[in-house]
Amino acid sequence: MDKIKIVGGTRLNGVIPISGAKNAALPLMIASLLTRETVTLANMPLLADVMLLERILGNHGVDYAIAGKRTGESVDAGRTVHLTAREIVDTTAPYDLVSRMRASFWVLAPLVARCGEARVSLPGGCAIGTRPVDLLLMALEKLGAKLDIENGYVVASAKNGLTGAEIDFPKVTVGGTHTALMAASLARGTTVLRNAAREPEVVDLADCLIKMGARIKGAGQSTIEIEGVGSLFGARHAVMPDRIEAGTYAMAVAMTGGDVLLAGARSDLLQAGLDALVQAGASITETNEGLRVTRNGAGISPVDVTTAPFPAFPTDLQAQFMALMTRAKGVSRITETIFENRFMHVQELARLGARIKLEGDTAIVTGADHLDGAPVMATDLRASVSLVIAALAARGETTINRVYHLDRGFERLEKKLRGCGAEIERITAAG
Ligand code: EPU
Repeated sequence: MDKIKIVGGTRLNGVIPISGAKNAALPLMIASLLTRETVTLANMPLLADVMLLERILGNHGVDYAIAGKRTGESVDAGRTVHLTAREIVDTTAPYDLVSRMRASFWVLAPLVARCGEARVSLPGGCAIGTRPVDLLLMALEKLGAKLDIENGYVVASAKNGLTGAEIDFPKVTVGGTHTALMAASLARGTTVLRNAAREPEVVDLADCLIKMGARIKGAGQSTIEIEGVGSLFGARHAVMPDRIEAGTYAMAVAMTGGDVLLAGARSDLLQAGLDALVQAGASITETNEGLRVTRNGAGISPVDVTTAPFPAFPTDLQAQFMALMTRAKGVSRITETIFENRFMHVQELARLGARIKLEGDTAIVTGADHLDGAPVMATDLRASVSLVIAALAARGETTINRVYHLDRGFERLEKKLRGCGAEIERITAAG
């Protein structure tokens, strides 16, 4: 397995192109199951999760074609892909694939909406918590799907199609909102979602569905109204920029000091994260090309944050912000309210010299004068990248194991950081 080696202590200066968002690309790809026609997605990130989902969709009969690069497009421009689900050849999503990527469970909604049946493996737990799917199932049941659990699979049927309904989510769920949007788009009649997720990725999916012919009002607000249609069409859509990737690199610059333009990043997707960074001592300016992040001179100030659904501070930046706080001049409190077990990075950060105490859902971080390089590993994507941030500021060498977690969600991470002066390299398993 590949490793990443980082020698800390270099400031970051330069330009980092921000890729298309993983968490938008995945539901957009899944939405291609809703129509016989071709859905074209531009600005697609090149990530392990995207490639795995290609395989999963291929099993259902989706034809996946990568468009050639046009003259003048750089390697940073993002790929354009065409997804065509002319016929659904198989409505089963097997355990060995779904267990490797939870989001693939979402195929349940378009399959049952379009084909009247689906058999999708339950995803199981994961490193950051139990992550149940009860609310996704509740939404589909409200829309009239009959659901059974058989041998670890959800077996869904709606022989006469789905019917619009009122769905009140007792808790904000991104995946629940994605699946309800997809299913309700092909249901008969009107669906109203209450306490829907307001995450920008939900808006991106809704925008694409609208281009495909769906009638959706209110995406980005807590109440969304969907008027079902008989069929959806092909469309072309550009994946939104990855706000978590942008926030991650912004935190890296705040950690090391320097001056970096995050090309293509948008502050409206990330305001709570940027506010916390400014309080910590970074300067952020929005330009026509993206967000410019700088930090000079003075050290990092401690800042308390609490994760919560959008527009609050995102759970997907919690580990990275904790890494930054390990070097703050004082004590900060970081509270995680979305996932019950998303502190797997704490013990690894401690290996680099971080001083973090856990009290229930809160991490109390006492900033240290310096961190020291060490071998570390992590069990999820955001935890892994928090170790990269810490390593960039640590004295000496850090080796990060289990790099496949990073490859799931960060496109060409080492190349982007090296381009800004970081001493970072990938050691391939063969080498
Ligand atoms: N929840 C339930 N029942 C459900 C669904 C969710 O209790 O049926 C709970 C979850 O256990 C969690 C909370 O509701 O406590 C929120 O979960 P949500 O459904 O919003 O998360 P998700 O859709 O599974 C997406 C992202 C995550 C991100 C969360 C929260 C994708 C592919 N994944 O997950 O991203 O943390 O929303 O914003 O979009 C990551 O990229 O590293 C990642 C984990």
